[in-house]
Amino acid sequence: MYQQVYLNGEYQAAEQACVPVMDRGFMFGDGVYEVIPVYAGRPFRLQQHMQRLQNSLDAIGINNPLSQSDWEHIFSTLFAHNCDTPDAYIYLQVTRGVMQRREHNYNADLIPTVLVMCHSHHYALTDSKTAGIKAITVEDNRWADCYIKSINLLPNVLRKQQAMNQEATEAILIREGYAVEGSASNLFIVKDDVIRTPPKSRYMLGGITRDLIIELCHDNKVVMGEKEISEDELHDADEIWMTSSTKEIMPVTELNQHKVGRGVPGPKWNQVQKIFQAYKQKLQ
Ligand SMILES: Cc1ncc(COP(=O)(O)O)c(C=O)c1O
Repeated sequence: MYQQVYLNGEYQAAEQACVPVMDRGFMFGDGVYEVIPVYAGRPFRLQQHMQRLQNSLDAIGINNPLSQSDWEHIFSTLFAHNCDTPDAYIYLQVTRGVMQRREHNYNADLIPTVLVMCHSHHYALTDSKTAGIKAITVEDNRWADCYIKSINLLPNVLRKQQAMNQEATEAILIREGYAVEGSASNLFIVKDDVIRTPPKSRYMLGGITRDLIIELCHDNKVVMGEKEISEDELHDADEIWMTSSTKEIMPVTELNQHKVGRGVPGPKWNQVQKIFQAYKQKLQ
């Protein structure tokens, strides 16, 4: 089965799908994207992901090129063609389109480029024996509009690679003494049985997984709060978790080569992981 992608109205083999060199996404990273998990063939938290897409498009002044039903039709067509597993993820990208000459400024009438892909994905069924990643702290050198899910990811790419080069999996970004999020994930800590995550701000991508965890904690009467996390508090945490659509809830068991808590996933992670997995199951 060859991998099929959707590009500007056509379904094509991934290797053959081409974007012109004058596409502003290619030239300037002028576009936005979304990643949507698919569980048992169904996009998860679809409405929230599409709302975030709309917010990102609005923030950079691109009209949403497709209707909700068009998007959904593309997702289900690609899933049916590409995926032989029940779980997958959808990647979609909208750029401002193709310009005639390379100029920073743009005409409002450009036709956005739309790319959608869907790949099979095995969500790590982690338990306390198998879970646990290493993370490092690095300075957050991104721009000031990180709430936009921009395809311009160079600082994130370099920070993630820096982590990998140090045999860690994720880089936790520190801005002016406060831990904001990971290079591709949001941040939670646990201290004295209380879960905490930084409040949303323009310096952070508001994760759909993050929002769901907050919602599930409230629904299940698990104590949690949204409050800034200083670098010192991060190092002093009993537990650290990183969350994202493709990674779900990852416990960090080593930070800058020091154990987090006892160096194994903690009891709060176990509790919230169970609640999260049960919620997923319920929807299937
Ligand atoms: C910088 C950043 N923060 C947070 C997240 C988590 O967002 P979500 O839970 O919606 O996948 C991501 C996901 O890619 C990300 O790139």
